[in-house]
Amino acid sequence: MCGIVGYVGKQKAAPLILEGLKRLEYRGYDSAGLVLLENGRFTVAKKIGRVANLETVTAPLPLPGHHGMGHTRWATHGGVTDANAHPHVSSDGRIALIHNGVIENYSKLKAFLLGKGYTFVSETDTEVLCNLIAYHYAKEPAAAAGDSRFVNSVRKALGHTEGTYGIVVMATDAPGELVTARKGSPLILGLGDGESLVASDVAAIVSRTQNVVYLKDGQIAHLTATTFAITTQNSGTVDPVIDKVTWSIADAEKGAYAHFMEKEIFEQPAALENAMRGRFSEDGSTAQFGGLNLSAGEFRGIERFMFCACGTALHACMVTEHLIERFARIPVECDYASEFRYRNAPLFRNTLFFVMSQSGETIDTLAALREAKRKGYKVLAVNNVVGSSIAREADGGIYQHVGPEVGVASTKAFTSQLLIGAMLALYIGRLRDLSFGEGVQIVRALKGAPDLARRALQQADHIRGIAQRYAHHTDMLFLGRLALFPIALEGALKLKEISYIHAEGYPAAEMKHGPIALVSEQCPSVFFAPSGEMLNKVVSSMQEIKARKGPIIAIVTADVELPAGLADETIVIPECHEAVLPIVASIPVQLLSYYIAVARGCDVDKPRNLAKSVTVE
Ligand code: M6R
Repeated sequence: MCGIVGYVGKQKAAPLILEGLKRLEYRGYDSAGLVLLENGRFTVAKKIGRVANLETVTAPLPLPGHHGMGHTRWATHGGVTDANAHPHVSSDGRIALIHNGVIENYSKLKAFLLGKGYTFVSETDTEVLCNLIAYHYAKEPAAAAGDSRFVNSVRKALGHTEGTYGIVVMATDAPGELVTARKGSPLILGLGDGESLVASDVAAIVSRTQNVVYLKDGQIAHLTATTFAITTQNSGTVDPVIDKVTWSIADAEKGAYAHFMEKEIFEQPAALENAMRGRFSEDGSTAQFGGLNLSAGEFRGIERFMFCACGTALHACMVTEHLIERFARIPVECDYASEFRYRNAPLFRNTLFFVMSQSGETIDTLAALREAKRKGYKVLAVNNVVGSSIAREADGGIYQHVGPEVGVASTKAFTSQLLIGAMLALYIGRLRDLSFGEGVQIVRALKGAPDLARRALQQADHIRGIAQRYAHHTDMLFLGRLALFPIALEGALKLKEISYIHAEGYPAAEMKHGPIALVSEQCPSVFFAPSGEMLNKVVSSMQEIKARKGPIIAIVTADVELPAGLADETIVIPECHEAVLPIVASIPVQLLSYYIAVARGCDVDKPRNLAKSVTVE
């Protein structure tokens, strides 16, 4: 959603801020802006639309200074206008602020500030916080030794604030200083060579430094080009941990690919290798994970699992549910994190919670995690972003290790979640009834996943051709059974989010209980028809669609021969074990959605209205 980047150092700040903002574009936004400080004066520029628009308006400006910050805004309070874009400057001109999050008590604070003579030019909650900091700054005595007027005024203002924030603040009296604070919105400090940076996402700063500090909730950092100090909202001091980012800037660039989504689809074989590396036992019969923080004995005592997530990650949970129930025979429940957090579900004792989140910042998933912990349950996380809020707040977990995923439509993160889910099911199964032989078979199958994914990707040209023939449709159904039902949901989500075609996923047999009313020559159905116990049933569902003149795109395993003329298009994927099938079956629907979106001229990596990580409710 919103993005933050701040810089103080030896270089001209503006080009670095603009570059950082471009690297944050993938998170989704509707306006962008920057502020620079030179000779006690702010230079501010903001513009609705893309960062390119901001570049156009700033191109003729001198853009002085080695100290500044920029923001990409995804509107919450106030419409998409230049005035509502960040940065905001206090009405006394002394404080500038960029902010991710929502200040919930902003109307009360605004009334207070209006009474004190502060004025407002935007409709945002951020401008209220900016003036509140200015109010405390004006009241704060000039700094005593070892004290900072600037930091204290931010701390005091935040003390009166309800809601969530990741902020960066500049003051005209404090050249070369940035103050930054977080509560519920990620912030990372970058410690470079004679320069300091702050960003909401590592991608914005990794070209300058790989030494980072992940700021925690309730912490306030004070940065200069060569120093940084972290304190808490209660004025306590913090011993910071400096981490090293393990990926490089090349990982966050699209290289020769047309879109990040395309690159990430084709990266899946390598991503799967990375997600499984070092995670199988020596005897080759089970999986092992380093960070679960739960002993095998404790796992054996678990009688139920509960998975919470949003969007694509929830689909990965649903596949995991299926596999845990198959391999370990333990009941599993999946829930939308956004529903779980409010519905006060009755929970069983001895339930272990899992949340899945690529970004680790999805606010609903984080809230579900907190709700489960509040009720006394342990929560483990499957997550891709090291140091994310979810990774930090969970009791343990499994990192996906697939590198940055930039495309808004999740692809490699999804299939790695499927892989980790299958490994988890294997691990739990082997602690219970799953035999050594069955374990060995599953391990072999999982180790073969990268190669199977590679073979599925070889269908890309064939799928592009199909996409071109079907791109004009406005409705599409995705139908699958058992573990491929969630993949049908995922196919429908993928298609609608990037191509804006209305699509729905259903269990194939459920189709005749309603969705069949949609079927016509104008509404194609994508069927998953792998070999196995359900094939005949799926073929019957296909016949029902065909009888109503619905076009059929069938995704079949190589050993399946469908009745002649049943499918209008056929995509063949390799035969594989049920633990791997959801991964392999995902690839054709990712490619189909991608090529359809391209054929329709859609902005694949930045679909309208969407954000890469949804950090507001
Ligand atoms: O970062 P998360 O995995 O928590 O994100 C959850 C969803 O917002 C995300 O999967 C969303 O559905 C994607 N755009 C799907 O492609």
